[in-house]
Amino acid sequence: MTRRIAVAAAVLAVASSTTLACARAGAPPPETGREVFVKQGCYGCHTIGKFGTPIGPDLSRVGSKYEEEYLARWLRDPALQRPTAHMPKLELTEEEVRALAAFLAAQR
Ligand code: HEC
Repeated sequence: MTRRIAVAAAVLAVASSTTLACARAGAPPPETGREVFVKQGCYGCHTIGKFGTPIGPDLSRVGSKYEEEYLARWLRDPALQRPTAHMPKLELTEEEVRALAAFLAAQR
């Protein structure tokens, strides 16, 4: 009987310490702009450095051309910025737009 309690206590201790460890690790870190760029297939139409397909403009120095805010607006809906835009409106969350805009603004 005492043995059973001891085992139960040990199991509880292990369980609560793992829960604590998970809580400390917290939510997964937000995706970086580079990760979103790859995941969303931006490389399918753009180049940065040596990578990508040059269907759309090269983005290696896009950060020296546009402000982060403009880039975020462009990503939310290209046609709103330029009615003649050929770039499709992509399904991006607001977090992805922010991460991408920061990543692009750093390409100088
Ligand atoms: C189907 C092809 C295609 C895809 C996919 C695409 N783009 Fe574009 N993008 C274009 C084209 C074409 C342009 C040139 C402007 C226009 O005519 O729309 C452009 C323009 C841009 C510009 C403005 C560049 C400049 O110098 O004016 C940025 C920034 C940009 N794209 C970022 C992205 C990002 C980030 C993604 C991924 C989320 C992406 N694009 C996905 C085709 C694409």
